[in-house]
Amino acid sequence: MRNLTYGLFVLTAKDSVDNGCIINTCVQVASEPTRLMISCQMGNLTREIIEKTGTFNVSVLTEDVPFETIRHFGMQSGRDVDKFADFAGVERSRNGLLYLTEHVNAMFSCTVKETKNLGSHMMFIGEVTESKVLGKGAPCTYAHYHKAIRPKV
Ligand SMILES: Cc1cc2nc3c(=O)[nH]c(=O)nc-3n(C[C@H](O)[C@H](O)[C@H](O)COP(=O)(O)O)c2cc1C
Repeated sequence: MRNLTYGLFVLTAKDSVDNGCIINTCVQVASEPTRLMISCQMGNLTREIIEKTGTFNVSVLTEDVPFETIRHFGMQSGRDVDKFADFAGVERSRNGLLYLTEHVNAMFSCTVKETKNLGSHMMFIGEVTESKVLGKGAPCTYAHYHKAIRPKV
């Protein structure tokens, strides 16, 4: 599976609190209107919030993203910590959700149109309601993350 190519993203959602997680599964699957597909592990709080609220944002990470950002959003759950309590470098989009403004090159806001239970993951297909270019950095691929960002132990 590592021979497939993916990007790396922060997926954000909002219930009573803001939350977000790292995903490598985000692709454009339709145009006019533009639709994105994301896939969330069943146990993730972010999955639960998106299923309940029907909206999400995707921030596209760039190659200069520090490991700390990946660790912060991708290796702990919002069930245990408030991930945005002290996190600098965020703004709100028109849908009221947060997106990242540092180490990113674009953001998308989406409204969920289709939900499909895949067992281990919930697949959401969202229609893009807002998008912004936020920088010129090269998008971080999953391969770049494993090669250059993830600490070697
Ligand atoms: C490199 C990387 C890629 C990941 N890709 C996904 C993904 O595609 N879908 C997903 O649901 N979780 C993915 N995760 C795991 C979530 O980010 C992780 O389970 C997170 O702690 C969930 O947080 P939450 O419970 O606050 O939603 C990935 C994590 C990393 C480090």
